[in-house]
Amino acid sequence: MVRERFSERLNQFLDDDRWMILQDSYKPEENLKYESLFCLTNGYLGTRGSYEEGTTRSIPCTYVNGVFDKSETFMRELANLPNWLGIKLYVEKELVGIENCEILSFARALNMKKACLVKQYHLRDRKGRETLVEGVRFVSRADVHRMAVKLYVTPLNYSGIIEIENIIDGSVINFCDAPRFKVKHIYLTANEALGEKGAYLEAATRDNHLHVGCGARVEVKGTKTVLFHDFGEQAVEFLDFDAAEGKTYEVVKYVSIYTEREKCKEEIKEAISRTVQEFAAEGFTKEFEKHTQVYEKLWNQADIKIQGDEKLDQAVRFNIFHLMSTASDFDDRVNIGAKLLHGEEYGGHAFWDTELFMMPFFAYVFPEKARNLENYRYHLLDAARANARKNGFCGAQYPWESADDGTEQCPDWTIEPDGTCYRCYVAVYEHHVTAAVAYGIANYVKITGDVGFLYGRGAEILMETARFWASRLQYVEEKDRYEIRQVTGPDEWHEPVDNNLYTNYLARWNLRYCLELARVMRETCPDKYQALVEKIQIAEEELNAWKQVQGKIYLPRKEGTPLLEQFEGYFDLQEVVIEKYDENDWPIKPEALKTVERQSTQIIKQADVVMLLHLLGEEFDEETTKLNYSFYEKRTLHGSSLSPSIYAIMGLKVGDSSKAYRYLRRAALLDLIDLQGNTREGIHAANAGGVWQTVIFGFAGVSIEDEVLHIHPNLPKEWEGLNFRIHHRGTSLEVAISADGSVELTVLEGEEITVCVNGEMRKARR
Ligand code: BGC
Repeated sequence: MVRERFSERLNQFLDDDRWMILQDSYKPEENLKYESLFCLTNGYLGTRGSYEEGTTRSIPCTYVNGVFDKSETFMRELANLPNWLGIKLYVEKELVGIENCEILSFARALNMKKACLVKQYHLRDRKGRETLVEGVRFVSRADVHRMAVKLYVTPLNYSGIIEIENIIDGSVINFCDAPRFKVKHIYLTANEALGEKGAYLEAATRDNHLHVGCGARVEVKGTKTVLFHDFGEQAVEFLDFDAAEGKTYEVVKYVSIYTEREKCKEEIKEAISRTVQEFAAEGFTKEFEKHTQVYEKLWNQADIKIQGDEKLDQAVRFNIFHLMSTASDFDDRVNIGAKLLHGEEYGGHAFWDTELFMMPFFAYVFPEKARNLENYRYHLLDAARANARKNGFCGAQYPWESADDGTEQCPDWTIEPDGTCYRCYVAVYEHHVTAAVAYGIANYVKITGDVGFLYGRGAEILMETARFWASRLQYVEEKDRYEIRQVTGPDEWHEPVDNNLYTNYLARWNLRYCLELARVMRETCPDKYQALVEKIQIAEEELNAWKQVQGKIYLPRKEGTPLLEQFEGYFDLQEVVIEKYDENDWPIKPEALKTVERQSTQIIKQADVVMLLHLLGEEFDEETTKLNYSFYEKRTLHGSSLSPSIYAIMGLKVGDSSKAYRYLRRAALLDLIDLQGNTREGIHAANAGGVWQTVIFGFAGVSIEDEVLHIHPNLPKEWEGLNFRIHHRGTSLEVAISADGSVELTVLEGEEITVCVNGEMRKARR
């Protein structure tokens, strides 16, 4: 039991094991991984799980969603903002810290239920003084501008003065451990006391001069001295107190952050000062209670219970925790980065990952957050239009990587660890994100029934993306067909190719969806249709042209068979297949790849044709799905975390449930056991969404057909039951599935609905 690792005092911050992720020893080489795993976010900001006293190996990051900067780097990335965590305790100048004392006992744990990080360690310094340091931190979801740390400090075998430094550190940089990428995105604009108590640091981003303020104050009963020090890039509040052997002292740090995104520059300090003062007056406990109440509501919607499979149950919850914690409750000008707010990789940029991997979770569980994500794309529609024009196309082309202004943020160049620079062509050729944005809207509307969005902002995006595809497809006269040449599909190991099947299919889908949308709008809401036509100047001739184009798009496949060809010429590549699997059943890189270039073989990075089967399943019959799944499964090395969950879902579709279960385990544990070796760079957000999809779409068999919710479970033999909640068009539904596949439905809110369960129509009641 995780609870047993901690003292009674911390009991209020602990829960049963289903909710706890335990770190039971301190190994510096694991610091960066745990910083990602234990990162706390509240939809507004994220702070990695670094230690308050600092450690040698650490990438301490605090990001506020939407605060990007470029400076000397290749792209606009989330700027690492002042580190508010710092608390250093000293006894006679000796730091009471995890790295300079002997560790007599150690435990840290993430409590996912209450969204807090708990720690307890017993340290002995060089002079034999022993101190017990226990603590908890949280970033409030009740008021996203409040965060706090509470430490319980007990001198176990000595009495003396304990000195404390409460630090806000503005010296932080991005990529502090990667010499070639290091960059400082902020400069200080203020370093001063926060009124009578506390420290205040203000900084601005270097390109846009966007101001960010951070204020912090520490409270300890019996404090003798409080001083403010301006130490260059650190704002430090100093305190001390007399500590008596065996007595426990509470050290509470109250913190607030505001940026110019919420307040005008002149008001930032005032807002912070007020927040910190009120927070300290109300106390840690009150805010923590409010925070946990918000989490209780969130979990009430989002939790999945897998009975009989504890490890997986916890791992699935871990993925949901980070995904739901990062999405903003109110801001529709921010998206969700590929590594959430948990690490530096990909600079906080949004990819197709959002629409195709994360969006279904939000649309089913938190529809209002899904709508925010849709609105984000709408706000950046003009930028997508400009991007299309810049690249010589019509309509709107969404950037492969998107930050705050909608311009392409995928770098043109990148530097390898050995110092070599290479030109990165991803943004030039990987265009399928534009279809993903369109698909995301259609899917969001299918799940939520939000036709208000569809017939307004949604239609505008959809039509503009269809326009893009119509201009991107080129007519090849001698073959009398439309093609997309020089393009990269989801499999980035073949770059560029001609006629990537996935891209061509999705382009066709986008055009067809819009033709149908125009028809329906014309009939059912002619005023809205007229407004759309006027706004984006779409004439009947243009729609007629789309009709022509969509009917002649080239979709490569093996002549006379249902075997789909990933791209034109794929079958001519050297046939290398995966033959060996490791002890975790994971594909081992084929020997052949030691001598031949990956690009010249059929080995692929991630689900590509199989991703297509997943998204547009209704376009393929069973035989086609089965054949292609097994063909491409033998050729997919899962070089991207976006791959295993899709293979799990499709594995179930084709009746291969044991493999699907193994894929799900792989995906769910990916970060927890650092399977890709890069969890230090952040949590794999798309994978987290994919895990949710695997459980809900795969094993629970949830789908929507003709506006009716279907549930057709296929639980693995390891599970004794599965419980979850979803929304279906305004109705909140509790679903309980038993091991034998029987399903119980309860309507929690909204109208009673008819659901098709295992092929039979059933009324779900309150
Ligand atoms: C994958 C992309 C993905 C990106 C961000 C890449 O490795 O190939 O499909 O969008 O990571 O997660």
